[in-house]
Amino acid sequence: MGEIEELVTHWVRPQIRQLSAYHVADAEGLIKLDAMENPYRWPESLREEWLDLLRKVEINRYPQSQAPGVKAGLRRTMAIPENMELVLGNGSDELIQMIAMTVAGPDRKILAVEPSFVMYRMIALFLGMEYYGVSLKPDFSLNMDKLLAEIARIRPALIFLAYPNNPTGNLFNKEEMLRVIEAAPGLVVIDEAYAPFTDVSFLSLLGRYDNLLVMRTVSKMGLAGLRLGLLAGPAAWLNEIEKTRLPYNINVLTQISAEFSLSHQSVFDRQTAAIRQARDELFRQLQGIKGIAPVASQANFILVRLAPGRATPVFHDLRQRGVLVKNLHGSHPLLVDCLRVTVGTPEENTAFLAAFRP
Ligand SMILES: Cc1ncc(COP(=O)(O)O)c(C=O)c1O
Repeated sequence: MGEIEELVTHWVRPQIRQLSAYHVADAEGLIKLDAMENPYRWPESLREEWLDLLRKVEINRYPQSQAPGVKAGLRRTMAIPENMELVLGNGSDELIQMIAMTVAGPDRKILAVEPSFVMYRMIALFLGMEYYGVSLKPDFSLNMDKLLAEIARIRPALIFLAYPNNPTGNLFNKEEMLRVIEAAPGLVVIDEAYAPFTDVSFLSLLGRYDNLLVMRTVSKMGLAGLRLGLLAGPAAWLNEIEKTRLPYNINVLTQISAEFSLSHQSVFDRQTAAIRQARDELFRQLQGIKGIAPVASQANFILVRLAPGRATPVFHDLRQRGVLVKNLHGSHPLLVDCLRVTVGTPEENTAFLAAFRP
């Protein structure tokens, strides 16, 4: 071992050395159906208006720390209850990290269900917190017996539940989620990243439970490139979480672009409505194909189970034909033979479907 390797081995925490960095597939030249992005661009007139605004940005100045214009736009378009506070993150990924940092410490544990969004586990590991994953049932519903027993046993500081869940696309039973919130000794964060594609939400329940927070993002509605997430909840919690926020985490370009976009919400509403329609059509088409089983989704992606041993060959075959999806085979026992496809434009969805047809 060379000197530098010895130094690294000595000083880098074993938990970090054992991790592999979050892998982002190279999508150059491919139809990109792997990352739950909105496939639609903006109308040209809107792009021009936006570019005019960008010209005026004072890039030499730090951004406004509290991003008041962005917060006002988010409150208006997402109907955040007036008596609830907001904290903004550089994507909801950063909010997961901030919430975890706020409660981290010796013997502090994070619990999430599995399979779910991988960053809950990753961030627990980054912070040296213990992470507990409770497996869902094979139909991807909550395993309440296991979940309640684990909550009582480990007394987690923090629980994450994604609603709808990624990568399964389903909504957990709301009554069962409320039982989890009631049983939890610490915080429960409902991650509503896919809110634009469903009609249900826990936002209106904020304040009714002392340990409930709701997290959202603008990524999935069509602004993934901006990196902006929001956390809503009672001031008592959010004032503490705010202390972990780096002073200028929402940059000037994001602030001006988000404020502008949120004042044109109808454009995004039309796009997300089209995606919802395309999702339902894609689901119907997938249901009609022999040998595969799509999972009904309330998000902008569909999980598909293929015949035994087929997920990886079909993933490569799709790539060969210019379509990139996410291969989940091997990532969790409940995801054997599974691919996850993001809903694209009708043309992109047709290109994807063609790979399954003989
Ligand atoms: C459930 C869930 N939460 C959060 C995120 C992260 O979103 P953001 O782009 O706001 O960091 C994702 C992204 O895939 C997700 O699936």
